[in-house]
Amino acid sequence: MRKIILLGYMGCGKSTIAKTLSNTTKIPFVDLDKSIEERANLTVNEIFEQDGEIYFRKLEHDIFIELLNSPEDLIIGLGGGTPCYANNHELLNGDAVLSIYLKASVATLFDRLVANKSKRPLIADKSEEEMKEFIAKHLFDRSYYYNQAQHKVNVDGRSIEQTVNEILNLLA
Ligand code: S3P
Repeated sequence: MRKIILLGYMGCGKSTIAKTLSNTTKIPFVDLDKSIEERANLTVNEIFEQDGEIYFRKLEHDIFIELLNSPEDLIIGLGGGTPCYANNHELLNGDAVLSIYLKASVATLFDRLVANKSKRPLIADKSEEEMKEFIAKHLFDRSYYYNQAQHKVNVDGRSIEQTVNEILNLLA
């Protein structure tokens, strides 16, 4: 069964775009972070605090595999780090997978994340200055993995509807 995978850095709009895409296509949407939180019965922040990032990455990998193997069509919204750990990036080109990198500039990501960082343990404690530098370097480091996606959609300056329409064209 077909899996549409949305990936990209924190704040690129994976969940928002996936929800709209799901409403339009009627393909169910699963948010990987939410699935992890439900499984652990903890928030992402709590998992990082109590069990550490490595535990989180193991859970993230295991649940990603489960979702890929589930017998239904799904839109899967990954966490920002998912493609960058274990062999997850190889799974972006698996059978019956359509993977899409939602590409945003550092400026766009910073603007979206600055007001909304508390739920994100990797940036929650950073000042604005530190955040800007962190995002720029982190995005650079991660781009190799994001670029393993089959398609790239630029989200800078685009509305949700424009981005969803671009994705619908890829599905057609
Ligand atoms: C992370 C991104 C988060 C979440 C966790 C780690 C990352 O997901 O998985 O905080 O490593 O970039 P979002 O991209 O949905 O914020």
